Amino acid sequence: MKKILVTGALGQIGSELTAALKKKYGEKNIITSDVKTDVTNEEFFPYETLNVLDKARLSEIVKKHDITIIYHLAAILSAAGEKNPNLCWDVNMTGLHNVLEVARELSVKQIICPSSIAVFGPETPRDNTPQETVILPKTMYGLTKAAGELLCEYYVDKFGIDVRGIRYPGLISYKTLPGGGTTDYAVEIFYEAIKKKSYTCFLEADTTLPMMYMPDAIRGTIQLAETDFSKLQNHCNFNFAGVSFSCAEIAAEIKKYIPEFKIDYVPDFRQKIANSWPRSIDDSQASKQWGWQVEYDLEKMTQDMLDNLSKKLANN
Ligand SMILES: NC(=O)c1ccc[n+]([C@@H]2O[C@H](COP(=O)([O-])OP(=O)(O)OC[C@H]3O[C@@H](n4cnc5c(N)ncnc54)[C@H](O)[C@@H]3O)[C@@H](O)[C@H]2O)c1
Repeated sequence: MKKILVTGALGQIGSELTAALKKKYGEKNIITSDVKTDVTNEEFFPYETLNVLDKARLSEIVKKHDITIIYHLAAILSAAGEKNPNLCWDVNMTGLHNVLEVARELSVKQIICPSSIAVFGPETPRDNTPQETVILPKTMYGLTKAAGELLCEYYVDKFGIDVRGIRYPGLISYKTLPGGGTTDYAVEIFYEAIKKKSYTCFLEADTTLPMMYMPDAIRGTIQLAETDFSKLQNHCNFNFAGVSFSCAEIAAEIKKYIPEFKIDYVPDFRQKIANSWPRSIDDSQASKQWGWQVEYDLEKMTQDMLDNLSKKLANN
């Protein structure tokens, strides 16, 4: 029987992944955790407060619940990481190392650890970026993700632990706000379009980045987790592509539904980060090794986001 621990479960991915895992494997088999205390939302129960820097507490939770799988989502993202690089290093590196060490010591069967398109840097080919290419990230977040991939692969090779991970692009969702990434604009734009009919974008109009709608990301993550380990030639560095668009293109798509919507552009420090990342991603290895296929394009995603977010904001 699978007993799953999700770290960083209250974040953008964790809040939706938790619901999907509960549906698939049963409510009581998914234990959520996050650094935050006094969580009252029952959707996350059973919940354990866990700072991933506290290895002893992590061991205690794994033992208490007989955990067999860890989805390790606790992290400090790109823009937040540039504001606090030391915290980013600690949480992303020491936190990951603690998870891998506890898995080794307590024979946890599987670890899922997200990576990111932030592993790439300005020297990487920016269009249809291959999985194996120049990995010279310039942000603290990117370098923790690149080192994290290598660390995970080390635990696969050295200790035979089943560790896997996807390089997520920017994720778009309506349930939980994103937690301080460079692609957060692609979520904020929907909130502001509905609430104010206008948005000031922190990236330039023609900045194109790889993105994905959350239902695709959740489906892909579980699909990778369920693939027979022996079928995988790669483990912790899968390129994963959804849809690439510029800020102007998503604004134009929103305008089809909200004609009075207006956008202006005031780039900030995140522009430099965006300029160092790919415009589009080659995910042929994910397709070949575990059958990945994207479902949502820009049009389908925009429609679904506007429908669901409008309902959510009206109910609030
Ligand atoms: N959302 C994206 O667009 C995106 C893109 C690429 C990769 N990723 C990766 O996916 C994973 C999850 O990202 P997300 O978007 O859900 O992030 P998020 O910022 O929304 O959530 C991260 C969660 O981790 C928690 N956390 C922070 N420090 C912690 C600590 N010391 N101990 C325990 N919990 C802690 C936070 O409270 C938060 O709830 C991360 O590894 C991230 O790098 C996300």
